[in-house]
Amino acid sequence: MKTLGLNLDPTLALPIYRQLYERFREAIARGTLRPGERVPPVRGLASELGVARGTVELAYQLLTSEGYLQARGPAGTVVSPQLAERAATPAQRPASVAEQVHPGLIAHGPQIRPFQLGLPALDAFPRALWARLAARRLRQLSPAGLAYPDPCGHAPLRQAIAGYLGVSRGITCDPAQVFICASYQGALDMISRTLLRLGDKVWHEDPGYPRSRELMRAAGAKLVPLPVDADGLRVMDGLERAADARFAAVTPSQQSPTGVALSLPRRLALLDWAADAGSWIIEDDYDSEYRYSGFPLPALKSLDRQGRVLYTGTFSKVLFPSLRLGYLVVPESQVDGFVRSFQTFSSGCSELLQATLCDFFVEGHFARHLKRTRSLYAARRQLLRSALEEQLGDRLKFADLPGGLHLIGRVDGDDRAIAQRAHANGLGLQALNAWCVEARHEPALMLSFTNVVDEEMATRLAERVAKVMERP
Ligand SMILES: Cc1ncc(COP(=O)(O)O)c(C=O)c1O
Repeated sequence: MKTLGLNLDPTLALPIYRQLYERFREAIARGTLRPGERVPPVRGLASELGVARGTVELAYQLLTSEGYLQARGPAGTVVSPQLAERAATPAQRPASVAEQVHPGLIAHGPQIRPFQLGLPALDAFPRALWARLAARRLRQLSPAGLAYPDPCGHAPLRQAIAGYLGVSRGITCDPAQVFICASYQGALDMISRTLLRLGDKVWHEDPGYPRSRELMRAAGAKLVPLPVDADGLRVMDGLERAADARFAAVTPSQQSPTGVALSLPRRLALLDWAADAGSWIIEDDYDSEYRYSGFPLPALKSLDRQGRVLYTGTFSKVLFPSLRLGYLVVPESQVDGFVRSFQTFSSGCSELLQATLCDFFVEGHFARHLKRTRSLYAARRQLLRSALEEQLGDRLKFADLPGGLHLIGRVDGDDRAIAQRAHANGLGLQALNAWCVEARHEPALMLSFTNVVDEEMATRLAERVAKVMERP
């Protein structure tokens, strides 16, 4: 029976049967398992993998019900022969839309790989507490709570966020300026619908978050990639190349992905430019909560005297991404326009989830969870770094970043090629140069540490990285 390289990982939040299901689906899609081919018997596979028979049975049932497998009684289970007409050889297989848009960069859907960027610790979220709060909300739901939600957001949550931003990020705003949206992605979408005109130029960071630039490109923007150095976005390059841009999309607190902060002189230059040009700054403050040394920097928005900054925050990093909740703070002058946009284009976010989140906030759980995860991440970061240093010595030279959710290690050679090999081996690490458009960086790998739960796991993963890097 052929080796499928199943690579199951019991420490992940995704149940084992689901991981098995995904691996088989991938193997079928890639052509590693061909139509008509027999798959391993349940008992044999279960004992090979050291899992219960029921786990394998469950995965097979799911695959059968979706038409990937066919049970043939005593003759065993095979990959559905009907897939033959549709099967493509690996070379012919067209890239999925997601792959075409973000080649191998951003995970879509529930598949989770070790080192995958952008995920919080999925084991650390207080599920029982959340379930209790959600159940209480569900029980208390009034008839009005069953009607349509306010597209601008649950009013008490808007208020709680305005209060939080005042204390934590130095942002003074009225709750009416705070809009609840489907995370950062949703906020950017609403900004584009409200303020972006076809062909508007947008400064964006290079390297930078691929989803952000793709969304703006798809909305009709003309992108102007600007390099990033140790002081963050090179604002002076923007002034030279496209002073007439209408937007600048930036991650000033911890530049994504390099982790550097935008220096104060550059912050002021950016704000001056926006005020003079009548342009907009989109501040993506996606993970500034996580800083392990020094103090969190105030948001750029806190310096915005002219009302040019559209500030966005997300709960994807502190809580969990499938929650799909975030917020957008707009200047006072823009509130009416955004209310019209939300009423027109947004169907609102789940009232139940917003109300649960609001309780989580006002009852102090958010602050406690943040405190807990800050020290958890500081520890996991060190754990992974030590394990990698032990395995790889100076073949990975780490940048000393003050915060964030991933490590960046410089490598010799082609970081993209290493990352590609890592992906083929089931690892989700990324190449810094894969996040670049025009800029070229010293080759480096980016590895998230948030889901590295203990020393044993760190060592095991570091060994896998070392193996991937050994190959020429
Ligand atoms: C730079 C940046 N901004 C925003 C986000 C959050 O996106 P969302 O709130 O849509 O989950 C991420 C997530 O990885 C990110 O890396």
